[in-house]
Amino acid sequence: MSKPIVVSGIRPTGYLHLGNYFGAVRNFIRMQDDYTCYFFIADIHSLTTHPTPTNLQAGVKQVLAEYLACGIDPEKSTIFIQSDVPEVSELYAFLNMNAYLGELERTTSFKDKARKNPENVNAGLLTYPVLMAADIIIHKAKFVPVGKDQEQNLEMARKFAGRFNRMYNHELFPIPQPFTFDGGDMIKVPGLDGSGKMGKSEGNAINLYEDPASIRKKVMRAVTDAGPTTPNSEKPEPVQNLFTLLKIVSTPDVVAHYEEAYNNCSIRYGDLKKQLAEEIIAYTEPIRNRIIEILKDEAYLAKVAQMGAEKARASAQATLNEVKSLIGFKRLF
Ligand code: TYM
Repeated sequence: MSKPIVVSGIRPTGYLHLGNYFGAVRNFIRMQDDYTCYFFIADIHSLTTHPTPTNLQAGVKQVLAEYLACGIDPEKSTIFIQSDVPEVSELYAFLNMNAYLGELERTTSFKDKARKNPENVNAGLLTYPVLMAADIIIHKAKFVPVGKDQEQNLEMARKFAGRFNRMYNHELFPIPQPFTFDGGDMIKVPGLDGSGKMGKSEGNAINLYEDPASIRKKVMRAVTDAGPTTPNSEKPEPVQNLFTLLKIVSTPDVVAHYEEAYNNCSIRYGDLKKQLAEEIIAYTEPIRNRIIEILKDEAYLAKVAQMGAEKARASAQATLNEVKSLIGFKRLF
């Protein structure tokens, strides 16, 4: 029996951080044996906010090295660069004809980005979920491992896939599902600034590539409060965030120790932060060392990208041929 198909991607706008890792990449690694996986670098998507080429090449290379350093195996999974597969852009053009202004304008991520960057509300930003749908359905993916922040984009992809099937009266595309292990919730990794998610542009992230001294510094500076004064009180958001991070990188007994200290008001945030920093370092340091090694090997990176492009194109071309024939494109001359 053939394995279910999985697609996911990351924008190359900076280093991968703990949110990317625990929200997405760790799942990619765990899925490689049981699924047919396509993992890509969303360089076209990154143009919606980073339109100039200054950092494009470096960013793409960095994410490629980081994927490999995290343990994505190019022999098992297809790792590729979005722009190496022009079929995706062609499908994006077709899907755009069946995507409506109202539904695109209502997307939370569009509204957020438009508010934060009013001078660059471009059409690519508006149709971002359409390109994302093309990424996913061009390989007929059944599952998409992403963090909680991508939930709405994925909902749009489901809508566009279903709409295409209905319009052309053919069950061409599976309706893609968000993927989490054990039926758990989609993950949201919090930032160190006391509110919201960890993100590249929020300035609250710890990168996989970060050196230990910088990790210690960032964690020690994380926002907390004056400490609990009544036993078993509810944690304010900044403190809860530190516990959430600790839970992600540490073991249950360590978390239980600090929970107890919080509940009986003996907690010292300095201790909690030191522990958190060391646990993060234990996680990231081996990955960081591998990133440094892999980045030196240009020939290997080029080989991986080329191999991935060939495999991804073969799959994309097959779907695009079906799409074009359903829409009614025929060779006239
Ligand atoms: P991007 O580049 O913002 O993030 C890449 C992946 O990391 C996850 N992530 C998080 N998960 C949990 N907590 C966080 N704080 C956190 N921050 C980031 C994201 O959910 C994502 O899985 N639109 C996508 C890229 C994309 C894509 C696709 C993904 C383009 N086409 C097709 C899946 C399928 C994005 O901007 O992710």
